[in-house]
Amino acid sequence: MNRRPVEFKNDEKVSEFLNYLIENGGPELRDYEKLTSIVNNMDPADINDFREKIKTILNENTLIGHAFIKPYGYPGDFILLDRIYKFDVNEDSRYKKWDLLFQNQPAANAVRNRKDFFVEYCKNLVLKKQNAKVLILGSGPAEDVYEFLTSYPESNNLSFELIDFDQAAIDFSMKKNKKFDRQISYNRINVLRFNSYELYDLIWSAGITDYFKDKHFTFLIRKYINCLTEGGVMVISNFSTKNPTKRLMEVISNWYLNHRTETDLFRIASDANIDKEMVSVEKEPLGINLFLKILKN
Ligand SMILES: C[S@@+](CC[C@H](N)C(=O)[O-])C[C@H]1O[C@@H](n2cnc3c(N)ncnc32)[C@H](O)[C@@H]1O
Repeated sequence: MNRRPVEFKNDEKVSEFLNYLIENGGPELRDYEKLTSIVNNMDPADINDFREKIKTILNENTLIGHAFIKPYGYPGDFILLDRIYKFDVNEDSRYKKWDLLFQNQPAANAVRNRKDFFVEYCKNLVLKKQNAKVLILGSGPAEDVYEFLTSYPESNNLSFELIDFDQAAIDFSMKKNKKFDRQISYNRINVLRFNSYELYDLIWSAGITDYFKDKHFTFLIRKYINCLTEGGVMVISNFSTKNPTKRLMEVISNWYLNHRTETDLFRIASDANIDKEMVSVEKEPLGINLFLKILKN
């Protein structure tokens, strides 16, 4: 198929800049602001041409390409998340700067911060209760669990039940956490269909409601509030509308999330008939990942 040459209608300088980026093997730190501004202001009609222009990096060799290709059928898969946590970049000079661009994004830092948040919750839980139980909705690579159990090996009375609908994610997390087998169980099922007769002290969900419509989010809360112990807490992370990387994810990687405000989270909890005294919203230091927290008394 003959495509028309890639041109950005409004600005030849944009085109020149993108040529420079490709020739340079990606943006330098000093180019981030300009690239972000171009992407943030891009006319939606230009997006396909833009992607055509950067097609040599929009593939499995880069993190933004991985997100674009979606090899597991959805963006934000366990491989991508695991690489974010490890700050992994492709050392090949054709791709490295693009991976650094990705890893230096506020959204990637917010994901790393939310892992720290999880570790903190588990730490407090162990101090509070012997034999506590944690349920994780959408466990992905379970790097958060791995980090906690590795950092606090004395927490061998804490048990984790993990749910993910992707068998590849389950296999990956199981292999990673092999040495903690005794403390972890795995379930391959959609979180909206999982039924448990157990009660949990902490129910943790990160990186799934960002893909849910409000009605599924509400359903999730209604369903899992019944699985909390007295004094138990449910924490659900969701990207904030203030995410500065939002347009970059959408324009480059075709990665769309349901970003939400604090008010949205309170409203969703209220729609799920949760008493407002039980609800609060926390955020990681960048304010990009919000955490809807529901405490059952
Ligand atoms: C963005 S990753 C987040 C992983 C992990 N919670 C973290 O923060 O590192 C989302 C994970 O949730 C899983 N997932 C998404 N929707 C799901 C659903 N409805 N039921 C079960 N798993 C789901 C995906 O397969 C993926 O592994």
